[in-house]
Amino acid sequence: MRVIIKPDYESVSAWAAEYIVSKINAFAPTENKKFVLGLPTGSTPLGVYRELIKMYKEGKVSFENVITFNMDEYVGLPADHPQSYHYFMFENFFNHIDIKKENIHILDGMAKDAQLECENYEKAIAGCGGIDLFLGGIGEDGHIAFNEPFSSLTSRTRIKTLTSDTIKVNSRFFDYDISKVPTRAMTVGVGTIMDAKEVIILANGVKKAKAIYHGIEGAVSHKWTISVLQNHQHGIIVCDNEAASELEPDTIKYFKDIEK
Ligand code: GLP
Repeated sequence: MRVIIKPDYESVSAWAAEYIVSKINAFAPTENKKFVLGLPTGSTPLGVYRELIKMYKEGKVSFENVITFNMDEYVGLPADHPQSYHYFMFENFFNHIDIKKENIHILDGMAKDAQLECENYEKAIAGCGGIDLFLGGIGEDGHIAFNEPFSSLTSRTRIKTLTSDTIKVNSRFFDYDISKVPTRAMTVGVGTIMDAKEVIILANGVKKAKAIYHGIEGAVSHKWTISVLQNHQHGIIVCDNEAASELEPDTIKYFKDIEK
């Protein structure tokens, strides 16, 4: 695992955006060979999206031949609901770049047959040859996508019931009204994320410090689903000093030294 520790949120976002752009450009995607990018929502990736939009506008990257798959979506929120992850993605990223609409994939939280929707999502990912790079954030309890604690570490795309902790944390997007937060979500599984050729997880702020500690220094455990990244051949955690603040000084020294 690589761990990149940056001083603040801005430098975390800039590092991740530059890394993603370098990967897309090295891949040199074409109409017949598209780059497949997995994407998250949440407040953490907003800085990366801003940087990617800036780099697109400066002509440093194109998303014309990039296919995207989002991690998750709330069950029961239509695409035009301001708190749906559909709405979030178009508002904060897709509307500002040259991605083709047909290359965007987001789970449909209103699907009549949710199970089938999840199965088809896995098939669509496989049909594109798998995900080249999956970008993600983490919850305070270490969840990746909506894979709450004790999710199977080999899970696939499915419906998950959200924990009361996650509902409480996410209520900030719903006027702090817990009753407005959907109680279920569709999410790619831990196994789906682990199948990506590369995974980058972002974390900033002291609220994520415990999850980062368990993800990096703890044992691989379904209690902290982020910890499974230890088993990925190309896993990268990019975090700021605050999120790294529960790591042992030796751990921080090791990762800083090796990245010099
Ligand atoms: C939600 C999302 C996750 C995200 C997490 C953290 O639970 N399903 O994908 O990583 O929130 O969000 P934030 O970045 O706002 O802290």
